[in-house]
Amino acid sequence: MSRNVFRRPLAVVLVAAFLATVCVHWAWGRDHRRKKHHAEDAQQQSEAAGDLRLAAPGAKQLAPFDQQIAFNTLDMINQGRQTFRFDTFGDESFWGGVLQLHKAIEGHKFGGVGDGVSPATALAVGLKVDSEALPAHVVQGLRHGTVDLNDPATTLALLKLNAVVGILAKFDRGGALTTMGITCALCHSTVDNSLTTGVGRRLDGWANRDLNVGAIVSLAPNLQPVADLLGTDVAGVRKVLMAWGPGKFDAELFLDGKGFRPDGKTAAVLIPPAFGLAGVNLHTWTGWGSVTHWNAFVANLEMHGKGTFFDPRLDNANKFPIAARNHFGHIHTDPDDDLISPKLPALHFYQLSIPAPAPPDGSFDEAAAERGDKLFEGKANCARCHVPPTYSEPGWNLHTPSEVGVDDFQAKRGPEDRYRTSPLKGLWTHTKGGFFHDGRFATLADVVAHYNQLFNLNLTAGEQRDLVEYLKSLGDEVPSPKDADEDHDHDKHKNRDKD
Ligand code: HEC
Ligand code: HEC
Repeated sequence: MSRNVFRRPLAVVLVAAFLATVCVHWAWGRDHRRKKHHAEDAQQQSEAAGDLRLAAPGAKQLAPFDQQIAFNTLDMINQGRQTFRFDTFGDESFWGGVLQLHKAIEGHKFGGVGDGVSPATALAVGLKVDSEALPAHVVQGLRHGTVDLNDPATTLALLKLNAVVGILAKFDRGGALTTMGITCALCHSTVDNSLTTGVGRRLDGWANRDLNVGAIVSLAPNLQPVADLLGTDVAGVRKVLMAWGPGKFDAELFLDGKGFRPDGKTAAVLIPPAFGLAGVNLHTWTGWGSVTHWNAFVANLEMHGKGTFFDPRLDNANKFPIAARNHFGHIHTDPDDDLISPKLPALHFYQLSIPAPAPPDGSFDEAAAERGDKLFEGKANCARCHVPPTYSEPGWNLHTPSEVGVDDFQAKRGPEDRYRTSPLKGLWTHTKGGFFHDGRFATLADVVAHYNQLFNLNLTAGEQRDLVEYLKSLGDEVPSPKDADEDHDHDKHKNRDKD
């Protein structure tokens, strides 16, 4: 076993090369492919089929059904990406309709309430702007500092361009904001800051640890329905929301109504990344279910989209009093009106396709990481639970709180009273907010020190540092198709797999 960053099996390289080539075909050939039996289409298919040979070494050409599988892959990814970034599942009825959040964003000058939200404020609460959605003159303006970042009108212009990551606003013909909804990308995407802080190209799957969901929601003019649901008053709701802070959200609040832990701290948990999840069995900090279970859960119960959700575990009134009372485990929408269920397959597929980002060159000490790798599997025995390459257990990947030396508050808010073994690739992308479900360990060094004590590992200070460097090194190295051949040669030298 080795650090995953060095794992680059030939098959992956070849499949990537094939995907990239077919992507190009797909991009310009989409309309053609819709017209079945079109002559050009056939030609394109056969060109692509040439590339498909790459996907199955040894095979002359993929058989027809294998080709269908290959094309399906691309369709699923493209549909899933669209859903992940831009689909509100009809949740405008909640965010705009019930909470009236759009009115707080536009402010009284534009027909809403309050001062409105300027881009400066939006960026300060962690919202991100997709630079690729911006026209050239706006990009120039941002570069030269001539865009007014203190005017809510600029926010409205950005929303019209569909440039605010994870927020979808609707405008009437006169250009007035009528409602808004949220998408998965709000919490599970960020940007690369290539234009300026908070403005850049999208990075899907990366946890947005700058995002202050509580501060944003607390702006909503109408929190009364939330207060009613939780059996408290609006002031109580605001207190809970303001306690979340950046990078946290509480998906169980609407189930059990617990805003705070017994120690008085917020009950919210860190937003985890949504990458590197392929092959991992149970998801969320407390192991609620598969990725697709949780997608349905979130789209229905958290985003308040229009769909169908079944989970009779929520009938447990001791654990989930609010969910049980409101039958949240039995949400039914007529299939013709269901805006969630038809999108789940591709959404699942897309998420599983997002690799855990490889750490930037020079961001960790290679030699130390190499030593840490040995400790991880040897003396520190971390691999007993964090099994490479998923770094979670193949199988039932849950543990009691005492097994990992933490309290049971959050575990008890989930169905299994346990914590899920966190996948560890791409840790370097979410160091903000700390580690473990509630961020109780500020740094990776704190995590390692915790385990050192809990398991009596007797790791020296140097060994602990090596383990940290190893943790920083974890990520999927995804080869770019153009240097696939080069990488292949390179791989022979660099691949440190023992198997
Ligand atoms: C408001 C912020 C927010 C939004 C919007 C959101 N999530 Fe999440 N997501 C979270 C938080 C917080 C958790 C951790 C929940 C827990 O463990 O209690 C989570 C957990 C997850 C996980 C589990 C990750 C893991 O490590 O196992 C997946 C997968 C996921 N979300 C996907 C989605 C998808 C898909 C959408 C859109 C349908 C979505 N999320 C919308 C905040 C959000
Ligand atoms: C008994 C199984 C088990 C062992 C052994 C174990 N872990 Fe964990 N690990 C877990 C669980 C469960 C969590 C989630 C805890 C939580 O969220 O509160 C976790 C969380 C983590 C996290 C935090 C991830 C994040 O996203 O915040 C890191 C880092 C980590 N472990 C590293 C290690 C290292 C290093 C070792 C060896 C010294 C180790 N683990 C040993 C089960 C284990």
